[in-house]
Amino acid sequence: MHEPHRNPPAARPVLVVGIATIDAIARNVERLPPPGGLLFFQMLDLTTGGCALNAAIALCRLGTGADLTVRVGADPLGDIVVSAAAHAGLDTGLHRVIRDDRRSTSFSFVAVAASGERRFLHMRGANDNLRSSDVPDSDLLGRRFVFVTGSMLMGALDGTQTADLLARARRAGAKTMLDTVYAAETPRSEWERRLAPSLADLDYFVPSLAEAQALTGRDDPGEIASVLLDRGPRRIILKLGERGALLADNENGKVHVPAYRVEQVVDTTGAGDCWCAGLLAGLCEGQTPVEAIRLGCAAAAMSIGHAGATTGAPTREQAARYMLSTPLNPLA
Ligand SMILES: Nc1ncnc2c1ncn2[C@@H]1O[C@H](COP(=O)(O)OP(=O)(O)OP(=O)(O)O)[C@@H](O)[C@H]1O
Ligand SMILES: [Mg+2]
Repeated sequence: MHEPHRNPPAARPVLVVGIATIDAIARNVERLPPPGGLLFFQMLDLTTGGCALNAAIALCRLGTGADLTVRVGADPLGDIVVSAAAHAGLDTGLHRVIRDDRRSTSFSFVAVAASGERRFLHMRGANDNLRSSDVPDSDLLGRRFVFVTGSMLMGALDGTQTADLLARARRAGAKTMLDTVYAAETPRSEWERRLAPSLADLDYFVPSLAEAQALTGRDDPGEIASVLLDRGPRRIILKLGERGALLADNENGKVHVPAYRVEQVVDTTGAGDCWCAGLLAGLCEGQTPVEAIRLGCAAAAMSIGHAGATTGAPTREQAARYMLSTPLNPLA
């Protein structure tokens, strides 16, 4: 006779909640046509993107194991997100990749000039409809981390709903983490409205420097870290691009962790998301925050050596080898 199952299968350690997009990247677009006009371009890449989808794919590659909750449209672009998530090993049940019949899949048209300069046209689409109630309490149980990412681009979830989700995650015993997206020309009051309610419920707040500057109205990373730490998160980590990251908390004080040296930057899209995946992978292994940030910097550096947001995202073994053989960035 078989033993009856007494416990449900263990939840994957990380739940990622946030944005998923489809990016159409057009190359060698020097200018846009006038109204009624037509111009040619050379090449189109259709890829999946969005912080939550990228980070969840990178976590799968690292072997950490993650679940993803996003909203896409009930449209062909939504099908592409579902198949990319499934290909990466993510669960794509309808409660995970939710099909929204009122909004289409979020979409970016990216026009890249021969010089590499990019122009973006973005439609927020179904990401605007993601809400706290899309993640029931039962889905928070047994998680090590609940990671909300893509904040500033989620009309319903940003602000008090994110705070509600993070507070429920903590009550369920998970640690919480949040990352933002740079929203150009957004006034500081809007950064406050969308982020302030969540700060006290965060274990890790990990914005990029530009995003933290927009939120605080300050310039200097050390000063920004102090200002943000006073607002309640347990740890702040500012992502500093080629300069690595700055950790600030009450145990470690302020610690600068340098980036790895990347000889040829091919495509920085998704670097921040791969960094987050590396950080979470390290923390789930029981590494210290500084060790986990190093793994994040390695995953990010490996991703920017390849075109595409997650093409270069490493396995855990590849990241370990890379960290042994790659010098740190001398800029640090
Ligand atoms: N030129 C570079 N050389 C080496 N490492 C880099 C470089 N650019 C970024 N990184 C790594 O990627 C991490 C995240 O990049 P960044 O600080 O640009 O975050 P982000 O703005 O959130 O990124 P994204 O634009 O993907 O959202 C950095 O902490 C660093 O480790
Ligand atoms: Mg980012």
